[in-house]
Parts: sequence; structure tokens; C-alpha cells
Amino acid sequence: MASKKKAEKRVAIVGFGFMGRMHYGNWKKMKGAKVVAICDRDKAQFTAPITGGNIAGADVATDFGDAALYDDFDQMLREAKPDVISLTLPTPLHVPLTAKALQAGVSVLCEKPMALNAVECDKMIAAAKKARKGAKLMVAHCLRFWPSYMYLKKLVESKKYGKVVAASFRRFSAPPGWQKGTNWFADEAKSGGVALDLHIHDTDMVNYLFGMPKAVTSSAAFGKHGEMQYISTLYDVGGAAVTAEGSWVMTSTLGFEASYIVTFEKAVVILDGKRDKPLCVYPSKGEAFEPKLPAGEGYEYEIRWFLDVLNGKKVEKVITPEQSRDSVKIVDAERRSAKSGKKVAIR
Ligand SMILES: NC(=O)c1ccc[n+]([C@@H]2O[C@H](COP(=O)([O-])OP(=O)(O)OC[C@H]3O[C@@H](n4cnc5c(N)ncnc54)[C@H](O)[C@@H]3O)[C@@H](O)[C@H]2O)c1
Repeated sequence: MASKKKAEKRVAIVGFGFMGRMHYGNWKKMKGAKVVAICDRDKAQFTAPITGGNIAGADVATDFGDAALYDDFDQMLREAKPDVISLTLPTPLHVPLTAKALQAGVSVLCEKPMALNAVECDKMIAAAKKARKGAKLMVAHCLRFWPSYMYLKKLVESKKYGKVVAASFRRFSAPPGWQKGTNWFADEAKSGGVALDLHIHDTDMVNYLFGMPKAVTSSAAFGKHGEMQYISTLYDVGGAAVTAEGSWVMTSTLGFEASYIVTFEKAVVILDGKRDKPLCVYPSKGEAFEPKLPAGEGYEYEIRWFLDVLNGKKVEKVITPEQSRDSVKIVDAERRSAKSGKKVAIR
């Protein structure tokens, strides 16, 4: 008997700036999926030379094969009939357009942060519960799929080197300015500022590795207009000393930097692209060594994982919409703590 071949998933990219191009390039690598449409309200984005974001890797194509180009989301949904969209739009549009797609029976891979606050995230979760035709929602917390962070997750879970004694995470960047037109990142009402837009990557990693913290204590530096430029947080996870720092105030000559130092009872593990050994394990016995990791970036693995979910494959539990909402909730608490100078409990 001939085996039933699964139909190719029809993919649309919505928002074709830095991250839209990143998703586009990675969807093109997927067997069993085809990008049938790209949508951006600014048609110039289809031909504009891309300025790139804070990390390299976004697709620079201007020939999109037979993918249809749209500047209207509703028209795209009606005509292109995608099975799944990558929603790579400015953050205030995440909730309304995700809800619309799910209501139309279209699955959504929505960029992080899920929404501007936890209440808004709950609206997205409610929309996912009412989604038509079994459509699914995933928030693209790429670090959970990044090989050097997946390696850390495995060490924490397996306790290969004992328990975690201390962990510190850093994410440093110059202020974002790659978007076309008005700098929506600079407006905290639109992006949530450095805490919600950048630092949430590490907050979500703390949530993934240690669970929901009981409380946070944050301090921050603010710019001339009261905008947060830098945040440093101590997470009360019970047991280990866990901190994370995020900055949008670094110089452009420093470039983008993401790193961690995690001290276990029997080893120290350091990720730092600027060292000779970018990821290295320093055990209490034996030689330091560089673990071998799978090639590629989290952006590719997160898409592969979601595609497997959509195809009904058995997958490892990595992320849920509720966990994505919880990471926004932690950042909400961090921002309150930084402004008040007080420890903030998380309920
Ligand atoms: N995962 C990561 O590492 C990472 C990195 C950077 C940004 N992000 C997130 O990705 C999202 C997008 O960020 P970006 O850097 O790509 O922004 P961007 O400004 O480069 O791109 C956004 C695009 O959306 C388009 N757009 C705006 N309104 C639209 C509408 N109504 N319909 C269709 N298109 C519309 C704009 O024209 C623009 O091309 C944000 O939520 C951001 O926080 C994630």
C-alpha cells in the first residue's frame, strides 16, 4: 500500500524586517514546508537592502520564487491560505494579529516577547484555546533551542556536575536602530524597552532552567527621557544565586554580546564568544574541554520543532504559551522592582 505523504505546510511570513527575514531564511531550509506568501505593510521591505539586526544571519534575498507578496494581512490570509505564519511584527501587533490568524484556523509562530504585559499575553492564550481547525500557537523563545543553551539545560537537569551554585547571564547591545522608519524600539510603550525586548531572552532562560522565581530584585540605569538602558536582576529561585544583566547602552564598537557563567558543584561552564574557547567546561577534576554541539542556530531549531508539533510528531516538551506569558510576568516584576528599588514578589 502506498504510504500517505503529509501535505507540505503552507507558510507565510508576516512583517518582513530583521526577524521576518531571519524566519524566511530558516523556513526555506525546512523539508515539508513552503513559503507561499510574505506580507509587510511597507512594500519597500521586499526590495530594500536589509540593514540587519544585532546578529548576523537574516536572509537578504530579493527574489522570493513563487511566494506571493502582500501589504495587507487580511487579504494575505484569504488568498494565500497559509497553514502557519511566522509573526515577526512590532510587539504591539502580536496579540491582535495572532488572535486573528488563530481564529482563521492558521497556526502562529509569534516572535518574543509574547506581548507588552502579562494581561495581554492572557488574551493570546485565550485566543489559542478558541483557535479554529486545531491551529496552534508557539512563542519564539529561540534560546530554548540554541545549542549552547540546550547544552546548559541538559547539564542542569542531569546534575552531571551536581547542583547549580550560581548562574549569571548577560546580553549586551548598542541601542537597536535597524528598523525602517520611526524607531519603535526606542518607544517603551511599543517595545517594552531593554527589559522586555532584549533581557527577556535571559529571563526566559532563568524560567526554563529554574522555574518561576519567587521574587526578583532589580536595579537599572535610565536615560534622559526616563527610558531604561540597563537592567540587572537577582532572581529568588531558592538555592542558587542567579542573576542576569541586559543592556541597550553599549557602544557599537563593542558589538552584540551574549554570555553565561554557570557554577555547578563540580564544574564551571562558560559561554562567551569573545574568549578563545567560546563554550568551555572547567571541571573540578580532569582537563577543561570544549563540548561538541550541533551546528546551527536556535532560529532554525525552533522552527523545526514547531513544524514537528504541527505534523503531530512526538516532541520533547520545550515551551508552552503559558511559560512564555510567565516570562513576561517576571519581566513585569523586574521593571517594577527597578523603578521602586524594592524586591518584588511574583504570584
Ligand atoms: N528572537 C530574536 O532574537 C529577536 C531579535 C530581534 C527582534 N525580535 C522581535 O521580533 C519582532 C520584530 O522585530 P524586528 O527587529 O524584525 O522589527 P523590524 O522593525 O525590523 O520589522 C518589523 C516589520 O513589520 C512591518 N509591519 C509593521 N506593521 C505591519 C502590519 N500591520 N502588517 C504588516 N507588516 C507590518 C514593518 O514594516 C517592518 O518591516 C519584535 O517583537 C522583536 O522584539 C526578536
